[in-house]
Amino acid sequence: MANYPFSPDCITIPLCSGKKACSMPSSPSLTLRNVSLVGGRIADISVREGVVSHAGAGGPADRTIDCSDLLVLPAAIDMHVHMRGGTQSAKEDWESGSRSALAGGVTVVVDQPNTIPPISSPDALHARVLEARSHSLCSFAVNSSVTFDTPVKGMWSAGALAFGETFFAPSSYGEALSGEELGAALREIQVCGALATIHAEEAAAGDDSDLLSHDRLRSAAGELRAVDSVRRYNTAGCRLHFCHMSTNASVRAAAAAGSVEVTPHHLFLSHEQFGPADALGKVNPPLRSEKERRDLWAAWDTIDVIASDHAPHTRTEKQALFRDAPAGIPGVETMVPLLLAAVLEKKIQLADVIRKTSQAPAGLLGIPPAGFSPGDRADFALYPKTTDRVDPDTLHSRCGFSPFEGLPAIFPRTVILGGEVVYEEGEFSRGSPAWFAGKGFFPR
Ligand code: DOR
Ligand code: ZN
Repeated sequence: MANYPFSPDCITIPLCSGKKACSMPSSPSLTLRNVSLVGGRIADISVREGVVSHAGAGGPADRTIDCSDLLVLPAAIDMHVHMRGGTQSAKEDWESGSRSALAGGVTVVVDQPNTIPPISSPDALHARVLEARSHSLCSFAVNSSVTFDTPVKGMWSAGALAFGETFFAPSSYGEALSGEELGAALREIQVCGALATIHAEEAAAGDDSDLLSHDRLRSAAGELRAVDSVRRYNTAGCRLHFCHMSTNASVRAAAAAGSVEVTPHHLFLSHEQFGPADALGKVNPPLRSEKERRDLWAAWDTIDVIASDHAPHTRTEKQALFRDAPAGIPGVETMVPLLLAAVLEKKIQLADVIRKTSQAPAGLLGIPPAGFSPGDRADFALYPKTTDRVDPDTLHSRCGFSPFEGLPAIFPRTVILGGEVVYEEGEFSRGSPAWFAGKGFFPR
């Protein structure tokens, strides 16, 4: 395996008091003044060397931002994005995808392994990390693919953060594993103590000619059966995370077997909102009916994580005949903005949004949490308290469209990564993005 010319950044996040005795070079300090914390306390948040150094009264700093009129959130971790790149750069690459992430208040993305070529060997993982290292403006992690012959231990020591999404039904650029193959892979992943993330669906053959038939061929009942099968094949008791559960019943079944992720598109969109054969709404698992969408909100308290499944395809690809158009919806930039608009409408609580987009993914994946306490990773997004609307022309993904067009959303004005302002009023600057490797990483 090739040598890594660098180490992941999760092992040593420098914690430096800034006193003379510290030998680390000091980066500019920042104070966020008058931050309203969940629970009502107002505090100044001081940041040094990439982490929160104090929460209380703020002292002098190289830069001070008054947050009196702003919603300040620990920035989000989107644990399910497809950043593309390589031969798929017309859809997205690390540069455009990471801009889209930052402009949506996401400072860490977890890249899925169904790239071309897939992330199925330590060398492929190494190359992917180097590509992200060179081009990403946000912090990142890379997952290992799970195929019948994935070298699980090798991927774990090469720095995979988690395993999957593991395709238990075929999807775009992903071949399905059989039940036996899944069981065998989960045994190996369990030995590493790693997390397996699962795309659980059933895909039937048939005429996939519009959104309704797409919903029937990849049915809600089939998703529920797939969750149950995955649970039964997991004889090893591997830690499971169910990706993009699309119905209330699936959320509840998955919660009994692992952690549960839901996407904004299944919460905010139904197939009724599109023309019958509009492939902009084609995604796996499919958009469900308006009734099922509303019912999904009733499972809100059972959902652990909201992740976008950001899966950009070009507008031209999406304009093909429905059955030929690729499945996938872009969403890393609109995820937190849509949820915050729902907070302002008093539909959900701000604390839940922070938990499901930042704290829970950090905990599940072993990424140092962003937050307001001393030692926390100093990644924040600062939002106005007024609602805007999703306008695809102002988004940064290369795919150039958004199925969320016109929905209420609140976009961040300023985004901070490791204590540095990396996005402000539409302008980006290159900060110091980190690579978060998994716990098994062993440099050679
Ligand atoms: O709709 C989807 N698109 N679902 C997936 O699981 C993969 C994704 C993609 O990579 O385009
Ligand atoms: Zn998936």
